[in-house]
Amino acid sequence: MNQPIDIRPLEEADFSRFIDIQREALASAPELFGSDYDWFESLSLLSIEQRFEKYQNFPSNYLLGAFTSSGSIVGMIGFSCESHLAKLRHRGKVWGLYVSTEMRRQGLASRLLETVIETARDVMGCEQIQLSVSKHNEASYALYLRLGFVVYGTDIHAMKIEDGYVDEYLMVKFLR
Ligand SMILES: CC(C)(COP(=O)(O)OP(=O)(O)OC[C@H]1O[C@@H](n2cnc3c(N)ncnc32)[C@H](O)[C@@H]1OP(=O)(O)O)[C@@H](O)C(=O)NCCC(=O)NCCS
Repeated sequence: MNQPIDIRPLEEADFSRFIDIQREALASAPELFGSDYDWFESLSLLSIEQRFEKYQNFPSNYLLGAFTSSGSIVGMIGFSCESHLAKLRHRGKVWGLYVSTEMRRQGLASRLLETVIETARDVMGCEQIQLSVSKHNEASYALYLRLGFVVYGTDIHAMKIEDGYVDEYLMVKFLR
């Protein structure tokens, strides 16, 4: 049976667990994220802490985590909305979705994304959510389609990696 998983925004006390899952994500899926492992490892603890603090503003800018009963983070997603800007506050962005390998195919990414979508719509009053996904990331692409996102464009050569480029689909979900 699947173990109970608590979904909640990350708080100050989650800092070291945040570092653990961030390291794991960047090491295991380097071609899927804009940030890379070496860059993350080169940051000072203070700089990581400052970045982390920026995302402790629920419900406009936050990291949502999936926590086991022992407190480990086994999944995470980021949400940002420029809620202070009148012309931009109708849309939000999600990024950095990751679920630990051993916890996949149990609906965790869906729960994280659905929670973000509901909060953006019902609490923030957002009208749309945007995201980007590597063209070859079939698992995530299938997940986003399943949750109602549609492709509105392609970002050609969105990332440059050692042996070439990665194109990304730009996707949106309209909330009303
Ligand atoms: C993509 C990812 C977040 C999915 O997490 P997950 O918790 O396993 O996803 P869910 O269990 O909620 O799956 C929901 C649906 O997504 C799709 N999906 C998920 N993993 C899939 C896979 N490996 N192959 C094909 N479809 C997949 C399926 O439609 C699935 O529904 P189903 O299980 O009923 O078939 C996870 O595989 C991951 O962290 N990958 C590496 C990082 C990454 O790609 N991040 C996204 C960057 S844009």
